[in-house]
Amino acid sequence: MLSAKVSSSLNKQIELEASSSQYYLSMASWAETQGLNGVSTFLYEHADEERMHMLKLIKFVNERGGHGIVPALKQPPVTFKSVKAVFEEILKHEIKVTNEINNLVEICLKEKDYTTHNFLQWYVSEQIEEEALARQIVDKLKLIGDDKSGLYFFDRDLESLAAKTKAGIDKGKNDR
Ligand code: FEO
Repeated sequence: MLSAKVSSSLNKQIELEASSSQYYLSMASWAETQGLNGVSTFLYEHADEERMHMLKLIKFVNERGGHGIVPALKQPPVTFKSVKAVFEEILKHEIKVTNEINNLVEICLKEKDYTTHNFLQWYVSEQIEEEALARQIVDKLKLIGDDKSGLYFFDRDLESLAAKTKAGIDKGKNDR
């Protein structure tokens, strides 16, 4: 059984994963309107991945006798300055998510909830990957700068990265 403290903290994380999904979905839609098909495919997949993170938490909370709450969400930004700005935002956002996961891990230790602590290790590893990927993309975009043909090839590269993300989502769904 989850303690009230762990339960409410997990529900806060459910909200953060849900809002991450909305945020990336909005970025995907914007990228699609800019003709950036690779970028938008990648971001649509990323939005799905965050939804999977949310769902995993909801199911875990319910399994442990709590109630996973589906949250109300704020409207995310709908337009973005550039592709680079989008990925800089993603990196910033993922760092925030990592910090929240780390706080959750700490709460579990304080509450002596080793089952939830164990469950959260999946998120700890996932965050390492997500941050590394966002950082790698931001670095690439810095190299590209204002080079239009560079952006064209970058867009194509993201299409194949999106396929990898999709495989990660399927794996994540089956991990438990
Ligand atoms: Fe679910 Fe990107 O954190």
